[in-house]
Amino acid sequence: METVLARHEMKLDTEDDIIAVRRRVRDIAEMRKFDTFATAAITTATSELARNVIVHAGKGVAWIEEVSDGVHIGVRIVFEDQGPGISDIARVLAGGYSTARSMGLGVSGSRRLVDVFDIESKPGEGTKVTVLKWKRF
Ligand SMILES: Nc1ncnc2c1ncn2[C@@H]1O[C@H](COP(=O)(O)OP(=O)(O)OP(=O)(O)O)[C@@H](O)[C@H]1O
Ligand SMILES: [Mg+2]
Repeated sequence: METVLARHEMKLDTEDDIIAVRRRVRDIAEMRKFDTFATAAITTATSELARNVIVHAGKGVAWIEEVSDGVHIGVRIVFEDQGPGISDIARVLAGGYSTARSMGLGVSGSRRLVDVFDIESKPGEGTKVTVLKWKRF
């Protein structure tokens, strides 16, 4: 289990909030001395998943957590919304499926960029996506 070293809650109401959460994650990764690739990976995943909240659910919230397993430092971001939810998660994870006439690569692409990826969704109730990236030595 990880210890949470710091926790930042950020609202996702507008397009500007996507930029703000992306910047906050990048700043934390840089401050924690993540390498360039890991910083870009977690920043890109954050941007895609925050955009999904705005585009598909309208609004939501992101929690950014700086975590430690006692040896490694990581950044975990939880995106939560009370939007329409996802009825076919397997299809979304496979990629190339979009209800917004877009590429449908946000979720599948983000999943490949992080070390831990979890998605929970109930149609009519909302969606919770958790990503975690560990810092490499
Ligand atoms: N937070 C969410 N709430 C409801 N549905 C979602 C959410 N996130 C993703 N989805 C559903 O999953 C689909 C795939 O998401 P994904 O991000 O992979 O592609 P996209 O957003 O449609 O296109 P893009 O490639 O531009 O990101 C979406 O079209 C939408 O139906
Ligand atoms: Mg998307």
